[in-house]
Amino acid sequence: MLRRTKIAVLVSGGGTNLQALIDAQNAGILQSGEISLVISSNPEAYALERAAKHAIPSVVVSKRQCGGQEAFEARMIDVLTENGIELIVLAGFMTILSEAFTSRYPRRIINVHPSLIPSFCGAGFYGLRVHEAALNYGVKVTGATVHFVNEIPDGGEIIMQRAVEILPGDTPESLQRRVMEQAEWKILPLSVEQVSKEIQENKE
Ligand code: GAR
Repeated sequence: MLRRTKIAVLVSGGGTNLQALIDAQNAGILQSGEISLVISSNPEAYALERAAKHAIPSVVVSKRQCGGQEAFEARMIDVLTENGIELIVLAGFMTILSEAFTSRYPRRIINVHPSLIPSFCGAGFYGLRVHEAALNYGVKVTGATVHFVNEIPDGGEIIMQRAVEILPGDTPESLQRRVMEQAEWKILPLSVEQVSKEIQENKE
């Protein structure tokens, strides 16, 4: 049997996308990779409780505690290396990674973003702000994108996208929820399985 790709999921907050990955793993949708580690940039993140509930090891690496971007990324690289991580998934991870970091892992970092890239993305577009921007612009369709991470924020190669309708009366909160349910929680696990499988097949 092929060895499963070792995945680290990087989180900062609620961790519903982490939960979607855990559920996909339990359901056999994610089968070419295994969630080996959760790294949180925020010691208070609820995502850490989700990891604990499923007996997934977790570690907090915060920029503030490390004293700056360089030390933060150096610590992150140490943790990833020590744990033999082969695929990094940013699932609501709110710290931008520098080129020094991303260039070490070409096509080995995946991000989920809550819009149809190239709309409403890049520096400053994260979380609810993305949905506020979509509603303010007046677009009728939004969605989510899973993409590889390179040195350009939200600029790496697209892996999957799914569209979601905007409904009359939507608020940033209602739209965020619908984009998560109909798009993010579906395409993130599928993308992670696809890339895990590619990595698994390449190392045999
Ligand atoms: C998700 O909507 C994710 O796409 C977004 O933050 C939310 C995290 O929720 N990420 C970004 O905006 C990154 N630019 P979660 O912690 O419940 O998964």
